[in-house]
Amino acid sequence: MTDTERAQRYEQLKAEIFAVVEGETYLPARLATTSCLLAEAFRPRFFWTGFYVVDPEKPKELVVGPYTGTLGCLRIPFGRGVCGACAETGETQLVPDVHAFPGHIACDSRTNSEIVVPVRWPDGTLAAVLDIDSTEADAFDDIDKAGLEAICNGLLAN
Ligand code: SME
Repeated sequence: MTDTERAQRYEQLKAEIFAVVEGETYLPARLATTSCLLAEAFRPRFFWTGFYVVDPEKPKELVVGPYTGTLGCLRIPFGRGVCGACAETGETQLVPDVHAFPGHIACDSRTNSEIVVPVRWPDGTLAAVLDIDSTEADAFDDIDKAGLEAICNGLLAN
């Protein structure tokens, strides 16, 4: 797949995901749909594709949500590992080598690179993070970042 084709694929996926979840009020249904469609589209590069949701009872803790992949750890405090860094800073984390990332949480030792993108409620507060892991080193680039951010930015809007 060329870079242009990959960017177009993200555009198609965004339209498809938003169409499927339109009007849906149950958050896990939106997240499960997104996880499924992204994982299917970019298999096998996407080895683990899913969400860690902000726990409403512990606002500085993430708890695992819908995902596609091998067993994920259940809880991640803000500030810990790549997901925790994304939750703490509110910024996408693009990590070419997870073994060089301080505090990386190895839920599956086969993971070598990852990208984590924030998902916000319409009022701007953090709802969840989208975590995508790959067994390939340096599997993600700015096309993935832009495509995934566009999806996450609109995911809770309609
Ligand atoms: N890689 C993550 C932990 C979650 S699992 O890989 C599914 C991290 O360090 O934040």
